[in-house]
Amino acid sequence: PNEGCQKTLKNCNELLPTLPQSKAWWFDQLFQYQGFWIPSFGIRGSMLINDHFKPRPTDIIVATFPKCGTTWLRALVFSIINRNSFDVSDHPLRKANPRELVLFFEGYLHNYESTSFVDGLTSPRLLSTHLPYSLFPTRMTDDTSACRFVYICRDPKDVFVSKWHFANKLRPKELPPLSLEEAFDLFCKGVSEYGPFWDHGLGYWEAGVESPKKVLFLKYEDVKKEPLGGVRKLAGFLRVPFTPEEENNETVAEIVKLCSFESLSNQNVNKSQTSGGERPGGNSDFFRKGEVGDWVNHLSPEMVEKLNQITEQKLQGTGFNF
Ligand code: A3P
Repeated sequence: PNEGCQKTLKNCNELLPTLPQSKAWWFDQLFQYQGFWIPSFGIRGSMLINDHFKPRPTDIIVATFPKCGTTWLRALVFSIINRNSFDVSDHPLRKANPRELVLFFEGYLHNYESTSFVDGLTSPRLLSTHLPYSLFPTRMTDDTSACRFVYICRDPKDVFVSKWHFANKLRPKELPPLSLEEAFDLFCKGVSEYGPFWDHGLGYWEAGVESPKKVLFLKYEDVKKEPLGGVRKLAGFLRVPFTPEEENNETVAEIVKLCSFESLSNQNVNKSQTSGGERPGGNSDFFRKGEVGDWVNHLSPEMVEKLNQITEQKLQGTGFNF
């Protein structure tokens, strides 16, 4: 790593022990940093972005709170942007998990201890992040020509259930399983990787309202219900709208089908425990049910009421709701 990045990493190492800490759902400790609970590698990545990342107008940042549909959105953005480069029958999504095609921004910065890897990528760079919007530097968020963000949000009840299952798959065997009750308590308090969930969503929601050309805010439920509309919206926002010819030859429908839960979860590469990305977790761990409303099978009426209440309270008056 170059000297500048070394200095940033040194600052980060000095900062971490001074931050409030909490146990994580899977591996890393969580640190409370600028209002969010973030694993140390995420803080390191965020500080490297702040100090050294040079955005390009063509950059596309795929932003999510974990378990809101990162895998799906990565697949959709990759296939929309690269639709003229590959045939669906022999598509990269049939050979690689979406996280190998849209790289985990802060994860790669952390691994390389510098921005060198992302600096070397050819445009358009597709980068995926879990970092909250407020953690990005103003040269990325305020400059309309700097880069664009696409965000997908999801009903917190489904996010919680998805995350609880995921945590128990990823937790090291030495640790006891995370009970639903304990996990629920943590989630409600906002102690959750990149949480609080509500603040994360709200940051991107407000940015999308303020700068609709900079941030596209999608909801998992809406894209599930009308995937064709969702894909058209994404393509328009990314400034590569579908041509009438593409509409006629079913390109939009092909992308929807290729990226669907059924299609992706049935690719051999995604049935495996291969850890094809930069963070732990086998490929198959990212596919469970892919449905809207599975929370009814897991949450007690009290839990539902509590989550709904928090959501209402946190989002009151913002125009953002579920
Ligand atoms: P469930 O646990 O509810 O099934 P992330 O990709 O952000 O980690 O989120 C994982 C969630 O998205 C899981 O939800 C997973 O099943 C679902 N998912 C994965 N691929 C999907 C796809 N192509 N379409 C819809 N949902 C998908």
